[in-house]
Amino acid sequence: MKGSRVLVVDDDAHIVEVMEMRLAAMGLEVTATGNPQEALRALDEQSFDAALFDLRMEPMNGLLLMEAAHGKQPRLPVIIMTAHGTIDNAVQAVQRGAFDYITKPFVTEELRGKLGRALSERRWARDRHLLRAVGDILGSSGTTDRILEAVAQATVEATEAQRAVVFLLEDGRLAALANAGSAATPVEALRSAAEAAVDKRAPTTVFGDDGRVTLAAPLLVEGGAAGALVVEGPARVTPTEDDLELLSLFSSQAAVALRSAHELARLRSGALAALGRMAAEVAHELRNPLGGLKLYARHLEERLTRAEDAQGAEIAQKISRAIDHLAELVTDITAFGRPPQLARESTPLNGLLEDCLALVEDRVNERQIHVVRELDRTLPAMALDPRQLRKVFLNLIVNGLDALEAGGTLAVRSRRVEPGVVEVAVEDTGCGMSEETRARIFDLFFTTKADGTGLGMGIARSVVELHDGTLEVESQPGCGTRVVVRLAIAEAS
Ligand SMILES: Nc1ncnc2c1ncn2[C@@H]1O[C@H](COP(=O)(O)OP(=O)(O)OP(=O)(O)O)[C@@H](O)[C@H]1O
Ligand SMILES: [Mg+2]
Repeated sequence: MKGSRVLVVDDDAHIVEVMEMRLAAMGLEVTATGNPQEALRALDEQSFDAALFDLRMEPMNGLLLMEAAHGKQPRLPVIIMTAHGTIDNAVQAVQRGAFDYITKPFVTEELRGKLGRALSERRWARDRHLLRAVGDILGSSGTTDRILEAVAQATVEATEAQRAVVFLLEDGRLAALANAGSAATPVEALRSAAEAAVDKRAPTTVFGDDGRVTLAAPLLVEGGAAGALVVEGPARVTPTEDDLELLSLFSSQAAVALRSAHELARLRSGALAALGRMAAEVAHELRNPLGGLKLYARHLEERLTRAEDAQGAEIAQKISRAIDHLAELVTDITAFGRPPQLARESTPLNGLLEDCLALVEDRVNERQIHVVRELDRTLPAMALDPRQLRKVFLNLIVNGLDALEAGGTLAVRSRRVEPGVVEVAVEDTGCGMSEETRARIFDLFFTTKADGTGLGMGIARSVVELHDGTLEVESQPGCGTRVVVRLAIAEAS
């Protein structure tokens, strides 16, 4: 309790004087005033650990003052002082967010007890908030980026700072990777604070020329500093030991989150690679017997046709088609592990897109899908592997159709974005993807469809990357999906 900062406001000069003396005797740092406006100015200038406001004051009563104070310092515990006989008001005060009330004239012990609880409550409220925020971060199974965003956001919320920025070391340089809150100074200005914390490997306070104070705490992962969490406070608010302690507690939790994100990513990619290898092996084992089956089925079909068993022949044909489907799947799975060599040839990209759209025409008509084609007719023929790319665009278009309700819109656009680069965008107004789905679409066998194989997007990306292109996905649940493929215009040979 000693050294805590307490704000007292009462329009009775005598009470102000007495309170100042009593609280100072308890070892508290007291700011006492009879003027609510002055109190609000003090709240702008420094943070308080607790406040005592008189209920009846003119022109701003204690409850209004409390609301204004909470606008500036949301978790400030306020004790409302009332005279005898106004218990109803006191109860109302608690309902409106006061921590407690105390009736005048008060006994020193009661004052000490209530203030003591307010001060420990403040710590506790902060810690509880903090723990919840950190728990949310650790519980979220996101990418590193998302976790860092959450760290920055939670830090702003838990520390009442104006802005929090997470810096991470990348190639020996500190890069600002996540940012929450807002402040006028550029993010770059916080880099030196981050550097100081990383060098010292301990929490650091940096005082700016404009009176601003910046706190930085290193993110210690496996003994080294992986980066720093930097917090910028409002001007003229001097941080306490407590703030620094809170920040380093927070940054160590953030470091734990960061490390588990790294580990999770490593485990996940290891598991996916193992899954991929296994799938490729199984696919390989299936290939030969499937070839044999195909031969037998065709043989059977011929014999049944010769024997004029039309029904039997038709069944044999169905078997044959099912085998073709399985063989295609096997080829796809094998391709996933080891992408095929590209067979580039001069290919009109728009023609390829039209071919894909033609293949889904029946589905489009049946479900009254509105198709928008915006194809740049001036595109030159490009050196691409048309077989592989047909698979890519067909999958994007089919995925779009799968996502659409009847009557929705599917757009296929091609255009030149830079002199040497062509962009194809496949866009739907369908259901979009949750963040979880978005993070996993390229995973082998990840599908949300009853009859999906979950290979389409993974294959699409690997084919595009083999062409030295890029594939990007933008999607929001309920707002549709846009997949953008960029390909370089290579010399058609
Ligand atoms: N345009 C889209 N809108 C909404 N979700 C999509 C879209 N494209 C892909 N997805 C999601 O990504 C998942 C993976 O897509 P992917 O094409 O890899 O596999 P699939 O379509 O399920 O199966 P297939 O192997 O037959 O293509 C889909 O199951 C779906 O949940
Ligand atoms: Mg698909």
